[in-house]
Amino acid sequence: MAKNKTKKNKWVFVKDSGIHGKGVFAKRNIPKEKRIMEYVGERISKKESQRRGTKQMEEAAKNRKVGAVYIFDLNKKWDIDGNVPENIARFANHSCNENCDAFNIDNRIFYYTSKKIKKGQEILIDYGYDLEHFLDHTCKCGSDNCVGFIVAKDDRSKLKKMRSRKKSKSLLKKSKKRQVA
Ligand SMILES: C[S@@+](CC[C@H](N)C(=O)[O-])C[C@H]1O[C@@H](n2cnc3c(N)ncnc32)[C@H](O)[C@@H]1O
Ligand SMILES: [Zn+2]
Repeated sequence: MAKNKTKKNKWVFVKDSGIHGKGVFAKRNIPKEKRIMEYVGERISKKESQRRGTKQMEEAAKNRKVGAVYIFDLNKKWDIDGNVPENIARFANHSCNENCDAFNIDNRIFYYTSKKIKKGQEILIDYGYDLEHFLDHTCKCGSDNCVGFIVAKDDRSKLKKMRSRKKSKSLLKKSKKRQVA
């Protein structure tokens, strides 16, 4: 008989998220620095990862119901394609106020809480995207400090400065136009 690979997780479960599609939520109060899940899947080469990533993105663009890209950067040589049913970690959404971090421990990816999390709260991580192409990734995390785009924590203040400079330039342009009119 085939073994059921979907092991029950003690800490978290998956349900619809107000941020995007499905999300991961706390089953119970979780203390800080607790290992709550592993990002599992198929180990693939960078080349294969690029091929699958492009294919998954194209499919997601055609059909909103097709989730997203579930590829995790593992190391210089390998990635993990987490698009497998037993991988609940693939549903963790991004937030500008994350409560969880992913760690590579001996080439396995584990998610640890970075704050205390209350039962029912969504598990949220920092996707760590760089500033390049930030306009392609609108952030809907809804946190008070949301910068509006999915960008790594370390780049968020840079993005805020960039955007406020752009805003003041366009306000200046508008006010000059008004003066001329
Ligand atoms: C790995 S999936 C996360 C799980 C996803 N909610 C699902 O149901 O498949 C990553 C995708 O979720 C969406 N996403 C995650 N966090 C988001 C956020 N803060 N704002 C907007 N979209 C988000 C983006 O489309 C992103 O490409
Ligand atoms: Zn945000």
